Amino acid sequence: MFLKPEELHQFAEEGYTVREGFLTPEECAELRDEIRHLIATRLDLNTHPGTSFSTGAGQSSDEYFLSSGDKIRFFLEKGAVVDGKLSVSKIEDSVNKIGHALAQLDPVFRKVTSRPELKELAKQVGFSDDVVVVQSMAILKPPRIGGEVVPHQDSTFLYTDPPSAVGVWIPLEDCTQQNGCLWFAPCTHKTHRVSKRFVRDPTKIGTIFVDIDEPNPEVPNEAYIPVECKAGSLVLIHGSAVHKSEHNYSDKTRYAYTFHLLEGKNAYPKDNWLQNEGGAPFTRLLQLTA
Ligand code: FE2
Repeated sequence: MFLKPEELHQFAEEGYTVREGFLTPEECAELRDEIRHLIATRLDLNTHPGTSFSTGAGQSSDEYFLSSGDKIRFFLEKGAVVDGKLSVSKIEDSVNKIGHALAQLDPVFRKVTSRPELKELAKQVGFSDDVVVVQSMAILKPPRIGGEVVPHQDSTFLYTDPPSAVGVWIPLEDCTQQNGCLWFAPCTHKTHRVSKRFVRDPTKIGTIFVDIDEPNPEVPNEAYIPVECKAGSLVLIHGSAVHKSEHNYSDKTRYAYTFHLLEGKNAYPKDNWLQNEGGAPFTRLLQLTA
């Protein structure tokens, strides 16, 4: 069995667990190289909608985001491009994340995501053979401008009925409080129901949050604990666990690879923000091969 009993116990009780050494340093380096390769070969700031200043730039960047579920697309950090010019010295330091289908479309990320240990892990945390993999992405958190991720539950963004999201989060570099490690509020997956969903705006191209339950009490700052971890660790995140990460004020990057598992037997609403083109079904994890 991949997950040890004490890891499964921590996941069930606290809403997350960490396994060190899931990837070797060489595998982490290969994934970091692939991130830089994707940026060097596929990101063109001259045509990227996030840098376009034509009327309706907001709408074209919303379209770019909403149709990214089954593509490899680049999302820029706020402030990385000013007046059409890079404000950082290297293009890779302008990127917030690359997503949302690396697990299917990129051979290096597909190789990692299709590892048998992850299929075993999915069964161990209760998924059926219909478990699907969605929203796979590289998160770059570049030095000095890498933005905070405000407290959230992953099931808000990847809602199924009933909720089933589980996040797999793999740092490709050591994560510390200085470069923006994850922070968890332990046990909130038991105390905080999924109270809102992130959906497509029915009135225009864009997204909105809709309430589906009474709002949760705000988690006090002191309830969060930093989860510093080594490159190559595997952090498993319950979809209802409240977590966040801080701004990267350091001069180091904080590359990570993450993807999410959903129960394929549960209903996936058609207004969820993330959809495959033409409503095509999501990739089953058990069918994903290197
Ligand atoms: Fe998250």
